[in-house]
Amino acid sequence: MFNMYNRRYTGSKYKLMEWIRSLIIANCKGKTFFDVFAGTGVVTEYMLNDYEKYIVNDFLYSNEVIYKGFLLQEDYDIDKIMKIVETYNNINRTRLKENYVSINYGDKYFNRDDAKLIGKIREELKNINKKNIINNKEYYILLSSLLYSVDKIANTCGHYDAYRKINNIDSKFKYELILPKKLTKNQKVEIYREDSNELVKKIKTDIAFVDPPYNSRQYSRFYHVLENITTWKKPKLYGVALKPKEENMSEYCKSSASKVFKDLIDNLDTKYIVVTYNNNYNPKSTSSKNKITLEELKKILDEKGNTKVFNKPYKYFNAGKTELKNHKEYVFITKVEK
Ligand SMILES: C[S@@+](CC[C@H](N)C(=O)[O-])C[C@H]1O[C@@H](n2cnc3c(N)ncnc32)[C@H](O)[C@@H]1O
Repeated sequence: MFNMYNRRYTGSKYKLMEWIRSLIIANCKGKTFFDVFAGTGVVTEYMLNDYEKYIVNDFLYSNEVIYKGFLLQEDYDIDKIMKIVETYNNINRTRLKENYVSINYGDKYFNRDDAKLIGKIREELKNINKKNIINNKEYYILLSSLLYSVDKIANTCGHYDAYRKINNIDSKFKYELILPKKLTKNQKVEIYREDSNELVKKIKTDIAFVDPPYNSRQYSRFYHVLENITTWKKPKLYGVALKPKEENMSEYCKSSASKVFKDLIDNLDTKYIVVTYNNNYNPKSTSSKNKITLEELKKILDEKGNTKVFNKPYKYFNAGKTELKNHKEYVFITKVEK
């Protein structure tokens, strides 16, 4: 069964969470935790015993479905879900007809028969949801389970900017379930799929955890296959990497990054702001160069209140598996005064 962290995701904070959590607990007080750029959701997942209310947001469709699968506190029938998973796993994929997933991604991101089964399951989920055979929560559990199962076997090095050029991709897809989180009666979760700069204007929180993209790599372009399987609108795809038309292009990945960051910080209604960033300014590839300098970040945060800065050397491998020298992760914690 998958946990939220069983996912390959650029910038996931999972491996740093012991350190990050200890800093937050030591320096911030409050009952509400707002994960402003939640990505995989692992930050919230790691802090689930610490607060009464969680607000989780990301503008990607697949991330929203994953938060709902794991975190939405609604009833579901686990026996029914397990039966559905078993039925789909027993489908003979070699006999299936071609479908949107196999035609576009077969022999590229997935083995062709696996791709046929993935497309078939996605279509079935749409149908059983429409016919109300499953409820809302069951649908999100089943769809996020499909996303985790797909991501586990994809023929990539972790993101979908390219697939590995190999001749015969082994058939290895298995539909496996996620393990939804059970919160206590006193805990609440709100899930959003909004532009963070808009959402912060509507939210009041005690702690805001801000982990924006650091460089020009657009998440919607990296995880387009998962986005496409989630939205299931079957658009025309382009180029070698088979991407759809651009959507959700983040300002944090452009030269406007400092400006949007300042706007976000200015509009946050919170007692504490926790920001994570790193010191990646002189990488080999310009696409991994940071968009905001640490000095700029500190200056923007200082305008809101006293800011402490913590850092930690971190052995970081970027998506291409190249090691970055002298890499450090930073955590800024601001106690808001104004
Ligand atoms: C560095 S990642 C966050 C990683 C996350 N903390 C984790 O541990 O998995 C940044 C996230 O911001 C999201 N994002 C980028 N621009 C956004 C925007 N304007 N509004 C909402 N989300 C955005 C991306 O989709 C991505 O998931």
